[in-house]
Formats: sequence, C-alpha cells, structure tokens
Amino acid sequence: MKRRNFVLTLAVAVSLGLGAIAGCGSNETTGSEDGEKVLVMATSADYPPYEFYETARGEGEPVGFDIDIAQYITEELGYELEINDMDFNGIIPALQSNRADFAMAGMTPTEEREESVDFSEVYYEATNTIIANKGSGYDTFADLAGKTVGVQLGSTQQETAQEKAEEIGDITLEPRNKVSEIVQEIKAGRIDAAIVEDTVAKGYIQNNPDLEFLPIKDQEAAGSAIAFPKDSELVEEFNAVLAEMKENGEMEKLITKWFEEYYANQGAEEGAE
Ligand code: ARG
Repeated sequence: MKRRNFVLTLAVAVSLGLGAIAGCGSNETTGSEDGEKVLVMATSADYPPYEFYETARGEGEPVGFDIDIAQYITEELGYELEINDMDFNGIIPALQSNRADFAMAGMTPTEEREESVDFSEVYYEATNTIIANKGSGYDTFADLAGKTVGVQLGSTQQETAQEKAEEIGDITLEPRNKVSEIVQEIKAGRIDAAIVEDTVAKGYIQNNPDLEFLPIKDQEAAGSAIAFPKDSELVEEFNAVLAEMKENGEMEKLITKWFEEYYANQGAEEGAE
C-alpha cells in the first residue's frame, strides 16, 4: 500500500513535470490555496444517484456515486477536486478544449466518443428503461410507435432511440438538456415516454408515483466510464485507483451506499424532483 502510493505519487510528479515542460494549458497546473494541484471535473448533475443536488433548487454542491468516486481518486492521487456542472451535451467539448481535466457523468464509452476523448475502464454497468405514465406498459421500442419520446441531448439513449425510430418509423424524438425536464413533460402529458437508465429512472419514479419504468427487453448493458481529454496522462493514474477500489472493497461500498441504501432511506426525494 505504502509502496503503491509512492509509485503513484512519483507518476503524478513525473506527469505534472512533463506537462509543465510541454507548457500544456491544462487545469492540472492550477494551484489551490494549500498548494495542492486542482483537477476540474465536468459533470451534468441531473442524474441521481450518480450526480445530483440534494435540494430541489440546485443549491450547494452536487453529491452522488460519481462524486464520491472522484473524491476518492483525486484524494488518493494528491489532487484537490473542483466540480464544474454543465449540460451533458457540453461535457465532451469541455474536455476537448481543456476546460476540464476529466468528466464523470454516468457516461458510456462509445466508439464515436472515443474519437474525441479517452476513457477509463468501465466502473459500473446499467441498462435502459422506458419511463411513462403509470399503466402505459411500454417495454419494447415497438411499443413506442406513434409516440413522442424524450431523451437527453447528446446521450447514448438519444442515439439508440434514433436508430430505433429509423427502424420502426413512427417515433418522434424530443431531445432535452436535462432528464428532469423530460420527467416534468411526461407528467404534464406533453411527452409520452422517455428512455432513461434503470438506476436513474428508479430515483425519479420514487418521487413521482404517477409514473412507471419498465426495463427495455433485448437491451445491451450500458456501462459508465471516466472521460479525459485525448492522450491525458490521468487515464492510467485513474485506472490504477479504480482497480485498487475494486480490490479493497471501496467500490462495492459506494455501490451499496448509492444504489441500495440511498433509495431505501428515500433520500432521493428532493434531488429527483
Ligand atoms: N449513459 C448515457 C450516456 O453516456 C447517459 C448519461 C447521462 N448522464 C448525465 N449525467 N445526465 O450517454
């Protein structure tokens, strides 16, 4: 443990040194008050339990599964963490222009995204569901024929729904910046359904009992990974700590905390409104 920390510290020192020599304009070089290097993380805090605000009005700092992982990793590597909340669709551009050092947003590593950013190993698997008003019973894409379907702009759900719409024909997509907007529009009857990942759907449904969510049949699991600017030296460092978290039980602890205990304690109430 000691030795690994030393090796990691050394790796960080070396990579920072190289960064400085190369004069790269990354945020890594930003210093904090107590001299620790700051890493800026981009996220889209509309996604309980990954990242969300505990207050309905979005005050304070985002909390959640991704935030805890980010905190653990940056602390382990000797960085200070700064969180920059933005629309999901703005995250990859933020990484590409070095306005963020990494991003955690329940983001699925797709081939298309891999052309613009680098990804860590997958740290959590999930599946997609259909959210609709209670009693709708939609559990296949074919059920959505003739319907309006909300998806988050720039998400894999949008991409999948687009493919299905082309295949099936009669599906009207309604992309929105925030998952919370989509849920509100379903409640108001302006949209028929939405494609949302299971764990996130669970949080929204818990607080909106008029809605239901059904897992989509024949879906591949969609994992989450950490995204970085292309060729970032942080990828390896972060992967090392992710592996350590899987080994030492920290990841399992956070999965239990956010995907089981959190809902059991019904704390999602305000965050998912
Ligand atoms: N997993 C999906 C994707 O990568 C959705 C992620 C949405 N994340 C968010 N924080 N709103 O596209």
